[in-house]
Amino acid sequence: MFQKQYNDYLDKIEGYLDALPLDSSLLAKSMKYSVVGGGKRIRPVLALACADLVGGCSEKIVGEASALELIHTYSLIHDDLPSMDNDDYRRGKLSNHKMFGEAAAILAGDALLTYAFELIAKPVKGDEGKKLRVVLETAQAAGWQGMVAGQSLDTLGSLDNTTLSDIEHVHNLKTGALLKASARLGAILGGGSEQEISVLSSYALELGLAFQIKDDILDVVGESADLGKSAGKDEKSGKPTYTTLLGLDGARVKLEESIAKAKDHLQYFGAKADFLRSLADYTAQRKN
Ligand code: IPE
Ligand code: IPE
Ligand code: MG
Ligand code: MG
Ligand code: MG
Repeated sequence: MFQKQYNDYLDKIEGYLDALPLDSSLLAKSMKYSVVGGGKRIRPVLALACADLVGGCSEKIVGEASALELIHTYSLIHDDLPSMDNDDYRRGKLSNHKMFGEAAAILAGDALLTYAFELIAKPVKGDEGKKLRVVLETAQAAGWQGMVAGQSLDTLGSLDNTTLSDIEHVHNLKTGALLKASARLGAILGGGSEQEISVLSSYALELGLAFQIKDDILDVVGESADLGKSAGKDEKSGKPTYTTLLGLDGARVKLEESIAKAKDHLQYFGAKADFLRSLADYTAQRKN
């Protein structure tokens, strides 16, 4: 049931991303290289699921939801740059800068970020107010007080005396903020009530924390071939993570706690939120 619904959402997202007119220039080619054919697409899936949950029609917001994937893809391209995490592989192939060079990778990231907002802001008659709200919130979540703030702390922050609450803060910013924005985009454009939007925000922020704890665990226990990116990077670069602070078992306990907290928020919706409950379980169990 869960897998079928996920695949249905995925088909729509992949269809939209495949159809983007990105083929005429070197810039467009490097954008397309990173966007097409890879990734779990969890952010747009979350957005579509939240739209359906609040009684909206996910079909109508496939473009806006897929745009979140462009923001995410830009963040991965920049995350892999030599001056950031310096990773040669992403989604099972060479990372963007290895394929196209650093300048093209930086520009592809810049272009994907702005293109995403172009797609989200496309006017829909009668929905202008909701659109504006989503543009504002998504910009805040992606930007200097959201994901980029997290990436800045992660990359430039002091590695000494890092506490668990420091790491949680970084994880909430670098990963939680965009997942939360994805849930809100779906809930807002789907016509959800303020209460529904707020409950889904809390769920998605906690899901984002769990998602990044699992990413930290996979960095230790996963194989590069399964992950599609280099395993063991965090330890090699001396990056503080849930596993370096708590050990693998401690990180696993935190992951389970976080998944349980995320699901707790869904009580508000009863059985209607079963897809989101399964999405939380999937986050904890995923192999890549
Ligand atoms: C990787 O994101 C970076 C994190 C925020 C943990 P994903 O695990 O969603 O990567 P893809 O999109 O599936 O490749
Ligand atoms: C990246 O976190 C978070 C982003 C906002 C891109 P990581 O640096 O842990 O992601 P991976 O492991 O390279 O995918
Ligand atoms: Mg990183
Ligand atoms: Mg990285
Ligand atoms: Mg990682």
